[in-house]
Amino acid sequence: MMIQSLIRCRALNAFVLTVALVGCGAHTPVAQDYQPSIAQEGKDVVWIPTPTDLAERLLKAAQVTEKDLVYDLGAGDGKIAILAAKQFKATAVGVEYNPDMAEYARKNAQRAGVADKVTIITGDIFKEDFSKATVVTLYLLPGLNIKLRPTLLAMKPGTRIVSNTFTMGLWSADQTIETESGHLGYLWIVPANVEGYWSISGLPDLGHATGTLVIRQQYQELNGTLQMPAGRVEQPIKGLMRGNEMTFHYRDANGTTRTVTGKIENGAFKGYLMHDPSIQISGRKTS
Ligand SMILES: C[S@@+](CC[C@H](N)C(=O)[O-])C[C@H]1O[C@@H](n2cnc3c(N)ncnc32)[C@H](O)[C@@H]1O
Repeated sequence: MMIQSLIRCRALNAFVLTVALVGCGAHTPVAQDYQPSIAQEGKDVVWIPTPTDLAERLLKAAQVTEKDLVYDLGAGDGKIAILAAKQFKATAVGVEYNPDMAEYARKNAQRAGVADKVTIITGDIFKEDFSKATVVTLYLLPGLNIKLRPTLLAMKPGTRIVSNTFTMGLWSADQTIETESGHLGYLWIVPANVEGYWSISGLPDLGHATGTLVIRQQYQELNGTLQMPAGRVEQPIKGLMRGNEMTFHYRDANGTTRTVTGKIENGAFKGYLMHDPSIQISGRKTS
């Protein structure tokens, strides 16, 4: 907190936090009345708590409710897990490598009256299984976010991930959050994997025929083609995933850009044309 309030420039802020967050792996000795200190070393990253305003905004952006299971990876003093339980009524789990810090977080959860909703695991974020989480919160480092990225992308589509300050490399955020105090955070929604060939029907251009949608996917971004039945030119498509929701644009026979939007459920697509929701579009993955 002290470090952050001294720094105004956001770029410098991210740089200084990067330098400050890189720990050298040493371990704080066990103390009876343990009191952590800001920027103390951690296994892969030092401890700096997320500012409360940003923590609230991140959990709000992730639309956390009592139905959620929130995992904070690198839980520190338990601040995020406690906030998720107390203010957003979620069940929360914090994973913290430093056993003293983990115990300190457990005591904080007790003091906050949410020990029944908050579990603090003493463990390594790269070894613990957090696949059941519906929301994951991070305040790590860019390199650690990228190391976690394959695991995060393999989570259930629709899982929300929020990060204080640091991004996820080529996986661009679905939303950027900026607090009035100038802190930055990011939200990602795990996209369903739709890459491949789809047979698609219902588009007015196709009549009663079936077209082929060829989708190339990079994270949540879609590119590809809509192949029409014989005699029609293949159309490029562009689209976006938001969890299980798929939206794509193509040009109809008159050259007008049309938008199709809908949901993936059990490997099938059910949607409609944006300008006329009575026109139902359906799709099925063929390979
Ligand atoms: C920057 S702090 C963030 C604390 C908390 N998530 C927050 O936002 O307020 C990072 C925390 O991760 C812990 N940590 C570092 N490497 C870890 C690892 N491999 N597994 C679990 N915790 C780790 C550190 O001890 C530290 O408490």
